[in-house]
Amino acid sequence: MLGKKIEKRINEQIQSEFYSSHFYLSMAAYCEEIDLSGFAHWMRVQSEEEREHAMKFFDYLNERGGRVFLEAIDKPPSSFKSPRDIFEQTLKHEQQVTKMIHRLYKTAKDENDYATEVELQWFIREQVEEEKAASDILEKLKMVQNAPGALLMIDRQLGSRERNP
Ligand code: FEO
Repeated sequence: MLGKKIEKRINEQIQSEFYSSHFYLSMAAYCEEIDLSGFAHWMRVQSEEEREHAMKFFDYLNERGGRVFLEAIDKPPSSFKSPRDIFEQTLKHEQQVTKMIHRLYKTAKDENDYATEVELQWFIREQVEEEKAASDILEKLKMVQNAPGALLMIDRQLGSRERNP
């Protein structure tokens, strides 16, 4: 049986993952607006993956006999300055998510909830990849400094992002 404290924290994490999904979808809308369809595709895939993260926690809570309580999702920002701005915000956001996952892991450890520790290991690894992906793209964007040709090249690359199986 799942402890109440862990149940509460996992529900908060579900909320956060749904917010992330909304956050990236808002960025996809901005990228569509400025006609960078590759960036928009990348953000849309990111948004879908965040929903999958939420659902992974949703399923886990049910498996452990916990209860999912959904809350309203905060409104994400809708105006952005540039492709570089969205990836600066993406990296910052993922760093925050990493902190939340680590805090959840620590709670699971403190509560001697070994099953939740194991479940969270996947998320800890995922956060390493999430931060790296955002940081790599951000570095490229810093390098090209909005030069249109280079930006279109990055747009083509981001347009080929595949969904994780
Ligand atoms: Fe669900 Fe981007 O972390």
